[in-house]
Amino acid sequence: MSEAPLFLRAARGENTERAPIWLMRQAGRYLPEYRALKARHGFWEMVRTPELAVQVTLQPVTRFGLDAAILFSDIMTPLPPMGVRIEFDPGPVLAEPLRDEAAVAALRVPDAGELAPFVADALRLLRDASPVPVIGFAGAPLTLAAYLVEGSGSKDFAVFRGFLRARPAAAHALLEKLTEVTLRYLQVQLEAGAEAVQLFDSWAGLLSEDGYRAFGLPYARRVMAALAPFGAPRVYLAVGAGHLHRAIGEIGADVVSIDWRRPLSGARRELGAPCLQGNLDPAALLGPPEALRREAEAVLRQGLGGAHVFNLGHGVLPQTEPDALARLVDIVRGFDRRAEAGAGGGGSSGRASASEPRASGAGAAPATAAPGRGESAR
Ligand code: CP3
Repeated sequence: MSEAPLFLRAARGENTERAPIWLMRQAGRYLPEYRALKARHGFWEMVRTPELAVQVTLQPVTRFGLDAAILFSDIMTPLPPMGVRIEFDPGPVLAEPLRDEAAVAALRVPDAGELAPFVADALRLLRDASPVPVIGFAGAPLTLAAYLVEGSGSKDFAVFRGFLRARPAAAHALLEKLTEVTLRYLQVQLEAGAEAVQLFDSWAGLLSEDGYRAFGLPYARRVMAALAPFGAPRVYLAVGAGHLHRAIGEIGADVVSIDWRRPLSGARRELGAPCLQGNLDPAALLGPPEALRREAEAVLRQGLGGAHVFNLGHGVLPQTEPDALARLVDIVRGFDRRAEAGAGGGGSSGRASASEPRASGAGAAPATAAPGRGESAR
């Protein structure tokens, strides 16, 4: 019981005996218990009330026995204190999209303490309440900028992509401010008890490699570098970004999360990241059980040969049946990575867990049968 939780071991680069599993958007509309709470409170109220955010965060963890919890919040959460008005319908909609230098200049860069005190409170509660490590998160500067300029979600963010050409100075000024806010916001989360953080760059894949190197990479890299002193695993996710893998390899993330368009085995070579996360197509949860098993096991096999955190390539779809998710968790739990990697070496890198630097004296940890936490790093 003296080992760190499975998720943290894998996220730190260990080639673990089993792949830990958590799922992006694991809390949300596909769960009846989420819908019931949302009908009573509304989305922003749930995000802004620590007790509710904790409850929603733990709903999928309790139901499925996942190996990590992701804080229930949204990538838009730190933006209202900058002076931006946002509603959800169901995606984010801005009252006044930013379109010029003056609008960017008017944005505030609040102190850490002002950014989202309710998020820090929720994480402090989760530190005690969660049986598994809690992941904090934020939107990457580029993806936040895409929403702020476009004004809402969009298939191709054409207004934003035009803005990068028409007003590059304003774009960089905006990205500078968002970088500062994002790194402060993630520092607050790590101080409050998040044990890992994920930067969601959902729309990075819309840019060419040159565009990404100009407007995405430098800012995401700065966020990652500012968080390094905390020693907590830093996860970076981009979607539809196979063409950016070489650049993403330069971000300095401990874990890179990839979508389903490229197999993990090839991505491992392209990225050089210590740990890969992903990458089942979320639509696999909509198909028959045998097909789900086949696809999930293919992902697990492609994840061998290095550290792997099992996840989807993007978030759980709202029409997903909770039973499908339960089946997926069983499949991942039942996959013995040592046996599959061959009797010879149990995977490639040596097993580090025997020497995991965990003092074993934290007697308070009960003999939890729960996966994961044991006497985690408190
Ligand atoms: O993963 C989790 O379970 C934690 C919670 C979480 C939410 N949003 C809750 C939410 C996380 C990590 C996010 C991140 C987020 N939000 C991203 C990055 C991940 C991605 O999907 O690419 C983005 C782009 C957003 C912006 C956003 N917020 C969109 C596009 C939407 C529309 C609805 C949806 O689910 O796609 C939201 C609203 C939102 N955020 C909901 C939830 C549960 C749905 C609100 C509802 O109608 O109940």
